[in-house]
Amino acid sequence: MPDKKTHQPSAKSMSWTRYWRSGFRDTCFFADKTFSVAADWRNFFSSAGKGAKIVDLATGNGAVAMIAAQVNRDLHLEASIVGVDFADIAPQELPATTEEPLQNITFIGNTDLADLPFQDAQFDLASSQFGFEYAEQSGSLSELKRVLKPGGQVRLLIHATEGAVHEASVQRLRRARSMLESGQILPLLEELAKAVNSSAKTRIPKIQKRITTKVGQVQRKFGQLPKDDLVLELCSEAQMFVNAAGKVPASEFVAKIRHLSEEVRAYTLRLHAMQSAARTSVQMQALCEAANTIGFQQSRFTAYNVEDQQVGWVFHTQVI
Ligand SMILES: C[S@@+](CC[C@H](N)C(=O)[O-])C[C@H]1O[C@@H](n2cnc3c(N)ncnc32)[C@H](O)[C@@H]1O
Repeated sequence: MPDKKTHQPSAKSMSWTRYWRSGFRDTCFFADKTFSVAADWRNFFSSAGKGAKIVDLATGNGAVAMIAAQVNRDLHLEASIVGVDFADIAPQELPATTEEPLQNITFIGNTDLADLPFQDAQFDLASSQFGFEYAEQSGSLSELKRVLKPGGQVRLLIHATEGAVHEASVQRLRRARSMLESGQILPLLEELAKAVNSSAKTRIPKIQKRITTKVGQVQRKFGQLPKDDLVLELCSEAQMFVNAAGKVPASEFVAKIRHLSEEVRAYTLRLHAMQSAARTSVQMQALCEAANTIGFQQSRFTAYNVEDQQVGWVFHTQVI
C-alpha cells in the first residue's frame, strides 16, 4: 500500500479533476478523429512476468491502466496495477463503469509524479500516456527511477510539438480563448446573467439580440468544424440561454451560466497545459540523456504515428 502523500489541489489539477469527474474515458481525441493506441500498450504489458507490479503515471480515468488490467486478466499474470494522478480521480465511482478490470486497479489521486507515495524498488513496469510530460521532468524522472526495480521497464507516450494532435490543440485553444474576449459569447452571457439577476430587466432584450447576432457570426465563421468543437457547443448553449432568460428562476439561470463559464476556463487551462507539455525531438533527446545519467539505460524515442500522422513520441527505457 502507498505511503500517504497527498498534494493540495491547484487550479491546474482542479481543471483535470473536473474533466475526469465528468466521465471522459481518455484524452486521445485531439486530432479531430479518434485513434486507438491500445494494441501497442497490450504488447508492452504482455511482457510482464507473473505477479508483476505495474504503475500507470498520470492515469486520468485509467485508460491505460485498464488495458494493463485486461492483459493481466487474459494472460493470468496475477499482476497488481496502480494508477496515479494529481487530479482527484475516482474512476470506479463513475456511472456505467462496471467493467470488471477497472475494479482491480488501485487509483491514487492528488499525487504529483515528482513525489510518489511508494517505497523504493516497487514496480516492474511503468507506463504513461500523454501524462508524464505534464509534470516537472527532473523530479519525476528521479521518482520513476526510485520506485522501479532493477531491470524495470518504462514506456511513455508523449505529446510532440510536431504532429497532428498538437496542431489540433493549438487551433482549439485559439478558438476557445477568442470566446472569452470582451464582446464575445461568454462575456455576453455573463452580462445576460447579471441583467436577469438585477432590477435592470429592460436591458435583457438588447443583450439577447447581441448574443444571437454573435452566435450567427461565429457559426458562419466556424461552421466547417466538427459539431463537438467547444465553439459550436458554446453557440448552441448560448442560444438556449437566450431563449431561457426570464423563463427559469434567476438564481438557477445565473448558476448555470457560471458553470458554463468555469467549464470553458478549465478547458483552456487544460489545452494550455497540453501545449506546454509537448516536446520537440531535441527535448526528447535530452530526456534520453537525462534518464541515462540517473540510472536508466538504453533510453530511446521514436515518432509515434497513427494513419501516417505523428500523434506523439514513444519513449522506452529500463532501469540498470
Ligand atoms: C492528457 S491527460 C492523460 C490522462 C491519461 N493518461 C489518458 O491517457 O487518458 C494528462 C494527465 O496528467 C495529469 N497530470 C498533470 N500534471 C501532473 C503531475 N504533476 N503529476 C501527476 N499527474 C499530472 C493530469 O491530471 C491529467 O490527468
